[in-house]
Amino acid sequence: MSIATTSILRLFRESGNCFVSGASISRELRVSRTAVWKHINGLRDAGYVIEAVPSRGYLLISTPNILSEEEVRERLHTAVIGRRLVCLPATVSTNVAAFRLAEEGAEEGTVVIADAQSGGKGRMGRVWSSPPGVNLYCSIVLRPTIKPYHAPQLTFLSAVAVARAIEQTTALQPEIKWPNDVLIRGSKVAGLLNEMSAETDGINFVILGIGVNLNMTAAQFPATLRTPATSLLLELGRPINRAQFAAAMLGELDRLYEDFLTCGFGPVREEWQQRCNANGHEVSVSDGGAETIRGVFDGIDGDGAMLVRLPNDRVERILSGDVRVV
Ligand code: BTN
Repeated sequence: MSIATTSILRLFRESGNCFVSGASISRELRVSRTAVWKHINGLRDAGYVIEAVPSRGYLLISTPNILSEEEVRERLHTAVIGRRLVCLPATVSTNVAAFRLAEEGAEEGTVVIADAQSGGKGRMGRVWSSPPGVNLYCSIVLRPTIKPYHAPQLTFLSAVAVARAIEQTTALQPEIKWPNDVLIRGSKVAGLLNEMSAETDGINFVILGIGVNLNMTAAQFPATLRTPATSLLLELGRPINRAQFAAAMLGELDRLYEDFLTCGFGPVREEWQQRCNANGHEVSVSDGGAETIRGVFDGIDGDGAMLVRLPNDRVERILSGDVRVV
């Protein structure tokens, strides 16, 4: 969006649902009335419904459900996360785009959001289905001064941030499945994929990749899914405002990241465990199909490894694999 259209949207916001005269827009933007008309039509093309009444001016009737920088920024109240917002109509993968920006020196808190991904990346080399206009695909650049082996702890922050944002924007009760899925009534609604650039001794940057199925319809899910999946639309029966959800989630992540830097992993770990779907349950861990371990879920340790108590009372640390609550 251009600076002119951003300014017009600001004028609409400041008017508090009242008409804004063409003359005042033209004065503010220092452009002709014809140019104002062109910008208004540009906004209409982007999905904004704007009424024009001679001698009164323009009235914003409704905003589209889009993830533009303006719509997200307007709702964002964060210190670090989202200092810079890069909102793209489409990209291969927001993780790839954010990684590239980070390599070029992008500051901590830079967020890349895309309306669609042509090569959305999932865990274990899988594909993350990313149709346009419906979901949230976003990646965040962090530069914490922690040891590389502590970087996996950051995935737990993303999972808690997504769960909190779902609770804040809906009446649903999300659960977290180790290591990084967010579920609603047992079906996956969000997935997380962290990537990192590090030296032996320290981290250059971490990319937190977050995909949340917001308004995806049943027909938009791939036919061959490994695990049951859902979207907030399917659970609620009404669409979610994507910019509002994105801002809520980035806000929660901002708070969690600040706590993580000051208090360490402890508080996040505690909340993550309270939200985990496996509490008190028997779990089966598999690696590429075959079951490797079965035992009772015993929380996560300080590195984020899952602890499973075996029938002989030995506690096994699980670092990777697919987990199923038995
Ligand atoms: C999973 O397999 O559960 C992880 C899915 C992660 C998907 C998100 S969408 C935004 C970001 N960009 C990607 O290419 N992947 C992550």
